[in-house]
Amino acid sequence: MESQVQPKLIIHGGAGSSLKGKGGVQVVRSSLYQVVDAVYGMLLDGCAARDAVVQGCRMLEDDPLFNAGTGSVLQSDGQIRMSASLMDGVASRFSGVINVSRVQNPIELAEFLQTSPDRVLSDLGAAELVRELRLALYDPLTDQRFQEWLADRSDNFNRKMADVVSESAGRGTIGVVALDSMGRLAAGTSTGGKGFERIGRVSDSATPAGNYANANAGVSCTGIGEDILDECLAAKIVVRVTDGLSLRESLARSFAEAQSRNRDLGAIALDATGAIGWGKTSEVILAAFHDGVSRGDSLEAGPEPQVFIV
Ligand code: GLY
Repeated sequence: MESQVQPKLIIHGGAGSSLKGKGGVQVVRSSLYQVVDAVYGMLLDGCAARDAVVQGCRMLEDDPLFNAGTGSVLQSDGQIRMSASLMDGVASRFSGVINVSRVQNPIELAEFLQTSPDRVLSDLGAAELVRELRLALYDPLTDQRFQEWLADRSDNFNRKMADVVSESAGRGTIGVVALDSMGRLAAGTSTGGKGFERIGRVSDSATPAGNYANANAGVSCTGIGEDILDECLAAKIVVRVTDGLSLRESLARSFAEAQSRNRDLGAIALDATGAIGWGKTSEVILAAFHDGVSRGDSLEAGPEPQVFIV
């Protein structure tokens, strides 16, 4: 297929407290670049943005470094409940699952629901779908997450969110936004949640506040879900681009507003012109991208709130 548009890709592995030490940066960079290389290769081969996003999310879910799929954090009752969503920018169609358990790749459920009349399912419905699709039961728990949960339980779950990154491991939502060679945009987001939350708490990740795309822009968010919902961040950035602001202006305005309200969050974004961006109010966002010429990332950006456009 002849390429009409230079494909673009940005992914993230969460946002939150600082990367501790150089080892942490290298480990996270290597994981993120493996996904960027594989998924950007698919886009160069003519893969649709939506399929590339699903594959990128699948790879990030399968990496125990990140808080989604395998390696998800545990909730207050010691269970893992995951949420994921997919938005096809061409069709302007959102689908997702909320608080699903015992499945390897929640993003695949969101993908299946793209063509369903009922496009967002919560725990019981999502479990029924897993059974209907005859997906193998899967335990996403890792020993490290279990040990972290035990340690936090002894402190009565005093932290507002599980650590995002440590020396050898990272935690945080994952997300992928792609622009394909036909100019189509898509966004996907997947998470194990905040960690230590009460049963029934709903993440932003399977809502348009946390994941949104249309023909003009696509955004995936990370950080404290309640803060992202309060800002309606992903949809706000996409609507601002749709209404004529540049991606840079949309991110700058949206993150200035979030910062003024002391939100703890981050987002990655792409627009239909090929602009790539990320923003954060948290100390770090684990973002990596391919702009058609080279790869880049946000891992050594300073801890101050900032917006970056490639
Ligand atoms: N942003 C992920 C969560 O708060 O659940």
